[in-house]
Amino acid sequence: MLSKAQQILTDAMNADYAIGAFNTSNMEIAQAIVRAAVAKKSPVIVQTSEGAIEYAGLTMIAGVIKIIAQESSVPVIMHLDHGKSIETVKRCIDAGYTSVMIDSSTLPLQENIKKTAEVVAYAHARGVYVEAELGAIVGKEGVKDLHGSTTPDSFLTDPKQAMEFVEKTGIDSLAVSVGTIHGAFTGQEYIRFELLEEVQSAVSHIPLVLHGASGIASDHLQRACKGHVSKVNVDTELRVAFEKACGEYFKTTHESYDPRSIMGPARDAVQKTVEEKIDLLGSSGTSGIY
Ligand code: G3H
Ligand code: ZN
Repeated sequence: MLSKAQQILTDAMNADYAIGAFNTSNMEIAQAIVRAAVAKKSPVIVQTSEGAIEYAGLTMIAGVIKIIAQESSVPVIMHLDHGKSIETVKRCIDAGYTSVMIDSSTLPLQENIKKTAEVVAYAHARGVYVEAELGAIVGKEGVKDLHGSTTPDSFLTDPKQAMEFVEKTGIDSLAVSVGTIHGAFTGQEYIRFELLEEVQSAVSHIPLVLHGASGIASDHLQRACKGHVSKVNVDTELRVAFEKACGEYFKTTHESYDPRSIMGPARDAVQKTVEEKIDLLGSSGTSGIY
């Protein structure tokens, strides 16, 4: 079923587990994510970035996710990931997304507050959940500091600013920069728990969101979920699973020409990866309460 986010993420925060948020840009990956959630009896978040929306078209990708969600037995939240423009956020809300992220994290604090508050007003009037980011997550989206550095330490979330940001914007959840990186595994990414705990105490009434979870050690992820991290974003590990499975197909020659022979095993590989993450985040078996 297509579901709202508020209750599901608050419950996860209060019961020390997290809901996985997985990126898709096509039908197969969306199916893989939801099939994994059904197999694990867990709520799940299916999310699309602006790039995915550009690739598939908003009406198409929203339609695909909605149908898959409506046919499934578990709650599925349809979420916009890293919405940079207010226009995109509004289009997604109007297209039926139940949750959106406005990411103005590279703007100065007061501008980030202003833009985020505008989104909150539009979204809340329509019953849509809002995530926003403070500090920034470096990596594949190209965030660098003035000297070209891409280490997470240049962009960590400031707990005092977090308090002001949450109070002034009225957001529902906060994406934090606590050491993770988007995309490739560089070896520099690990969670700074001392900082995470400070941010958590500063904004203890709302769930925190961990981006860039691909490549983060399992014990770190589990420890974060025991705190207020209630949504964990995973993209790259799904892409790796998809691509590896496609690669396997091309290792041998085939006499038939059928894209389903490529996409089917890739979909299964992504499902397996999502199932493992759901178990790790601790949400398996929780869908029955909704
Ligand atoms: O917003 C998406 C994520 O933060 C995914 O990050 O590709 O490192 O898993 P990842
Ligand atoms: Zn992210």
